[in-house]
Amino acid sequence: MKILLGVSGGIAAYKALELVRLWMKAGHQVQVVMTEGAKQFIAPLSFQALSGQRVRDSLFDLAQEDAMGHIALARWPDVIVLAPASADLLARLRAGMADDLLTTLCLATDKPLVFAPAMNRLMWANAATQENVQLLQSRGWTMLAPESGEQACGEVGAGRLAEPASIVSRVAQIMSHAAEKPNQAWLGKRLLVTAGPTFEDLDPVRFIGNRSSGKMGFAIAQAAADQGAQVVLIAGPVNLPTPKGVERINVRSALAMMTAVQANYAQADVMIGAAAVADYRVEQVAQQKIKKTDDQDRLTLELVKNPDIIAWVAQQSDKPYVVGFAAETQDVVNYAKEKLKRKGLDMICANQVGEGIGFETDTNQLTLITENETVVLELSSKRQQAEALLTFIIEGVKN
Ligand code: PMT
Repeated sequence: MKILLGVSGGIAAYKALELVRLWMKAGHQVQVVMTEGAKQFIAPLSFQALSGQRVRDSLFDLAQEDAMGHIALARWPDVIVLAPASADLLARLRAGMADDLLTTLCLATDKPLVFAPAMNRLMWANAATQENVQLLQSRGWTMLAPESGEQACGEVGAGRLAEPASIVSRVAQIMSHAAEKPNQAWLGKRLLVTAGPTFEDLDPVRFIGNRSSGKMGFAIAQAAADQGAQVVLIAGPVNLPTPKGVERINVRSALAMMTAVQANYAQADVMIGAAAVADYRVEQVAQQKIKKTDDQDRLTLELVKNPDIIAWVAQQSDKPYVVGFAAETQDVVNYAKEKLKRKGLDMICANQVGEGIGFETDTNQLTLITENETVVLELSSKRQQAEALLTFIIEGVKN
C-alpha cells in the first residue's frame, strides 16, 4: 500500500516515527509530508531515515516540485493519513485552504483520507474543533478519535493521539473495506426522504418546533445515494451539510413540506418519512411580534391540525412504497404498529427516544415493522441503522 503520512505540529509528532516504522516493516511505501509546525517538533531527517524517501514540506520548492509535482503527489497514495492532526490543521482543512503543501494535497485528492487528531484536552473539547471534525467526517473523511489520559502538558483528558499500532490496524481495516465491491443495491431506484423538524411560526420571532436534528433522515439519504439511488431529500430547518449526490429541498413548515412532497412523491419508488412533523400550527401567523402585557398572566394559542403528509401519500393510487417513523418513549412497538395501520403505511420504523437516544444523537435503535415481520436492530450509528433499513426495504421491494 502507498501511504502519504501528513504530520502537523504537536508534541505527538514523535509518535508518527513509530507509524512509519510499523508501515515500513509491513512492506508498505510511505511518503511523509510535514507542515512547518511539525518541523518545530521533529527533524525531517528522522522520517527520511525511516521511510527511505525525502520528506516533502514545501509547495514552492523547485527541486521538490521537479521530483514529483504536488498534483502528482496527491494522486500517488492509496490513502492519506494525517497523524497527528493538530487543531490548526483541522481548521484549515475544514475551510478548504491550500496554504501549504499538506493542505493542498488534501484538497487535490480523491483518495480515502484518515485523520488522527492530537491536542490539549481543552482545544479538543472546544466547540470550534468539534464542529471542524464533524464537518470533515460529513465529507467522508474517517476520524481515528483521540484517546483520554495524561497529556504532555501535564493535564488529564481526551486529546492524546491514538496509539500508532491501533492507527496502523484501523487504516488496514479501512483500506480492506474500500477494496470491497461497493454495495449498489439501490442503483436505479428513486428515493424520497423527509428529515428534520418543521417549525410552525407563531409570529415573526417565535415558532413551535421540536428536537429533531435531521441526522437520521440525512444518514438515510447519504447511505441510499452511496448505494446508487437517486435521492430527493426534503429537509426541515436543520444545520447539516447536504449529503453528497443528493438533491435537497429546504422547507420550514409542515404545509411547505406537504407541498414539496406532493410535487415529488409520484417520481419516487420509495418514500421514507423520517421527519418529525409538527402536528399542529396556528391558523394565522401574527404579522407583528406578540406583545406581553402586564395584565395578562396566560396566553391561549388556538392551534389547528396539520395535514398528515405520509398518510396522504399512502392514500394515492400512484403511491411509492411508503415507510414511516414513529418516535416513542414507551411501548414503542405497539404504538408504531397502530400508526402503521392508521396511516396505511407499508412499513414503519419504531424509534425508541429518550435521554441520549433517538433525537439529536449520532446513534439510534430502530425496530423495523411490516404487516408480517418485526426486526429489532441493535443500537448503532445512524449511518448503520440507515444501511440496515435500506437493505430491509430493498429485499422487501424485490420480493
Ligand atoms: O432527526 P434526528 O435528531 O436524527 O431524530 C430522528 C427522529 C427521532 C426524529 C426520527 O427518527 C423519527 O422518529 N421521526 C418521526 C418522529 C415522529 O414521532 O413522528 P410522528 O409519530 O409524529 O409521525 C409518524 C410518521 O408520520 C412519521 O413518519 C412522520 O414523518 C409522519 N408524519 C407525521 C405528522 C404529519 N403531520 N405528517 C407526517 O408525515
